[in-house]
Amino acid sequence: MARVNENYLKLPGSYLFSTIGKKVAAFQEANPDKTIIRLGIGDVTQPLAPEIIKSLHNAVDEMGKAETFHGYAPDLGYEFLRKAIVENDYKARGCEIEADEIFVSDGAKCDSSNIQEIFAADSKIAVCDPVYPVYVDSNVMAGRTGVYDAKAETWSDVIYMPCLESNGFAPELPKEVPDLIYLCFPNNPTGATITKAQLQEWVDYANKNNAVIIYDAAYEAYISETDVPHSIYECEGARTCAIELKSFSKNAGFTGVRLGYTVIPKELICDGVALHGLWARRHGTKYNGAPYIVQRAGEAVYSEAGKAQLKDQVAYYMNNAKTIKEGLSAAGFSVSGGVNAPYIWLKTPDKMTSWEFFDYLLENANVVGTPGSGFGPSGEGYFRLTAFGTYENTLAAIERIKKL
Ligand SMILES: Cc1ncc(COP(=O)(O)O)c(C=O)c1O
Repeated sequence: MARVNENYLKLPGSYLFSTIGKKVAAFQEANPDKTIIRLGIGDVTQPLAPEIIKSLHNAVDEMGKAETFHGYAPDLGYEFLRKAIVENDYKARGCEIEADEIFVSDGAKCDSSNIQEIFAADSKIAVCDPVYPVYVDSNVMAGRTGVYDAKAETWSDVIYMPCLESNGFAPELPKEVPDLIYLCFPNNPTGATITKAQLQEWVDYANKNNAVIIYDAAYEAYISETDVPHSIYECEGARTCAIELKSFSKNAGFTGVRLGYTVIPKELICDGVALHGLWARRHGTKYNGAPYIVQRAGEAVYSEAGKAQLKDQVAYYMNNAKTIKEGLSAAGFSVSGGVNAPYIWLKTPDKMTSWEFFDYLLENANVVGTPGSGFGPSGEGYFRLTAFGTYENTLAAIERIKKL
């Protein structure tokens, strides 16, 4: 008799954004005349940059001719893309990463959820609280998180690192030593970052305790301050303790195109085994490569024209972030983030819960955000707004909130 993976049955409720989607759809159905502004999900709104479109068109034409047609991509990704990544994302920042340490994929969501597969089933994970839900849920599915406490909204075998106003939304080194540490900076959902010196403490801690850091740098392009690291490999010793995840979704608008990569340095040894080899084996068995067309588009991200166009695109979103942050501050809200990240993290007014504020905002301003509690118990009483809308919608949303 076929049986299901019972770990899936332990997952509480539905995925955060499906719940939001259902609530918004119900509100719209009941109020067809209202125009809803969505500043909830972290999806981009600006079209792909012209240089990327040009590259996509060229690659499509290549696929139409026998001489330039491409079938399965190489397991790790095309050399032209991995070289461009190494030159621009690493060498240019003084980080030592080789092209064969890059594994091209279809995005950071898949990589951040799949990476746990190469670690022991009883590995103890540590996550920030609040956190991008994928890290925890993928470990739940793998049976690694113990028993769920519905009241506390925590798992018995997960180490939670609260990120609160009192610690500047930066996690503290956990007293109980984890095997795997998930870090994401600039952070989703808080929009907070840590300095290079702070990240160095994590690298030292991981090396000292034989832990592995899974560093999600999906929002790296939004860093504006100089002491914030763009890659964990800027820290000394990171090659022996850190895996880095990158995405083309937020820096280049590839949420619907799909491209990302994972870096596993060859010196990263766990239990006497090189993780690079394990991930290569996993990648080779379970993944057949990002499309040639998309990898060519990824290459265009690193061209001079592409870089200039994307700098403008990031600036466009960061102008929205500024508009939200300044507008809400002026309206008396307590806000953080939005300086090195496209997320604004605000405290709900009048001690409303995150979901109460969600409903309040939806009903009274017809604006959709994301309840902080959906990202973990320490997110309760907070609310996330994204800067990924259009400028016009962002401005209109803030004007509506100001009038409440
Ligand atoms: C922290 C973080 N990592 C990864 C992702 C997913 O990125 P991708 O589109 O490359 O799958 C997101 C998307 O919102 C994210 O917020």
